[in-house]
Amino acid sequence: MLDELREAGTEVRVELADLADAGQLARALPEDLAGVFHLAGVLEDALVATLDDGLLHRALAGKAAGAWNLHTLTADLPVEHFVLFSSLAGLFGSPGQGAYAAANTFLDGLAEHRAALGLPAQSIDWGTWSGTGLAVAAGGVERLAARGLPPLSPEVALDLLEESLGSGRRHLVAAAFDWAAFGRAGLGPDLARMLEGQVSADRPAAGAERGAVKKAALAATGAAARLDVLRRFLLEQVGAVLGQTPESLDTSAPLQELGFDSLMAMELRTRLETGLDLRLSATVVYTFPTVEALADGLTQRITAERPAAPDPAAVHNMAAVLDTAAAQDLAGDEDAGDEPGVPGELAALDEHELAALLAEELDLKGGRHD
Ligand SMILES: NC(=O)c1ccc[n+]([C@@H]2O[C@H](COP(=O)([O-])OP(=O)(O)OC[C@H]3O[C@@H](n4cnc5c(N)ncnc54)[C@H](OP(=O)(O)O)[C@@H]3O)[C@@H](O)[C@H]2O)c1
Repeated sequence: MLDELREAGTEVRVELADLADAGQLARALPEDLAGVFHLAGVLEDALVATLDDGLLHRALAGKAAGAWNLHTLTADLPVEHFVLFSSLAGLFGSPGQGAYAAANTFLDGLAEHRAALGLPAQSIDWGTWSGTGLAVAAGGVERLAARGLPPLSPEVALDLLEESLGSGRRHLVAAAFDWAAFGRAGLGPDLARMLEGQVSADRPAAGAERGAVKKAALAATGAAARLDVLRRFLLEQVGAVLGQTPESLDTSAPLQELGFDSLMAMELRTRLETGLDLRLSATVVYTFPTVEALADGLTQRITAERPAAPDPAAVHNMAAVLDTAAAQDLAGDEDAGDEPGVPGELAALDEHELAALLAEELDLKGGRHD
């Protein structure tokens, strides 16, 4: 590329410097600098739980500290452009990229800060690029495309760069979207608000009420119905993580064969913990490697967490006690026949409803004796 520029008559000089080192950078910067395009950055993907100082430092060094050094060292120079190559990971968040996202968000903030000081500034939140670059090197392009972020070809990216420079805006997004796949991948509440009207909310947001699915499963009558609630929930979540429709998934295929990697496994675990209000082991997706196996395992876990089913003989005896108590209540209060659980209705209750009623009755009776 440098040769092409030289052949086109451009004078090219290359200086090497660590941008995070202000001294090195100061020595490398020419006095007649006309503009800055800041592209330095590294990916340091890790789950928040495993982010350490070293990793965070590497992610922030070239990109964030480098941007700050460029800002301070050029503040008195008459630069025409100060263009920061930021990423959608900062604006939208990106699983496993907390450090990288922070570094990019810093660039977006720096553009605002410079603009407030009357200095030229532009931060461009790029989607992925095909062909070359850090996303290709990290092997993340296909996964992001499946989640609704298809890559930009270098030609389109250059067109967008030109358009961005001409726009005079200080903060832009330059990315391609497949909104249907993007919506299917599940949006957290903040993103859903940000993209309201753009992305159809035909799937529940990832931030849906905690424990809602556990409640639905426990309310289902019988083991088969409970398993069905869990299976449907799992298909939704696995589909969202993979950026595929639930209908297209093979419930007996190992998740790794469907394209799961370790970050996706952690994302799925987080989604399951939210929907089911459970703490799950980090290896749950490996212990139960298919949708079917997971549905079975989670059904058993939820069933085991329910209040213990009462002994049928004890229920029988207590039902008789309740019959008597209710009959006594009826005898003393003509309106009592409207209460749930009068003798004629007992037969219609399943064992859990009966147990709940029993507990309620015992509590009530106990209260009366106090
Ligand atoms: N590619 C994408 O899909 C994509 C998407 C969104 C945003 N972006 C952003 O666009 C920019 C360019 O991306 P790219 O794909 O071209 O990345 P790339 O090929 O990995 O190039 C990044 C460059 O930054 C340099 N660098 C890192 N730390 C540095 C430091 N402390 N001092 C000086 N140089 C440093 C690296 O130098 P060494 O090789 O010597 O380490 C490398 O040449 C990045 O900021 C990236 O975050 C890219």
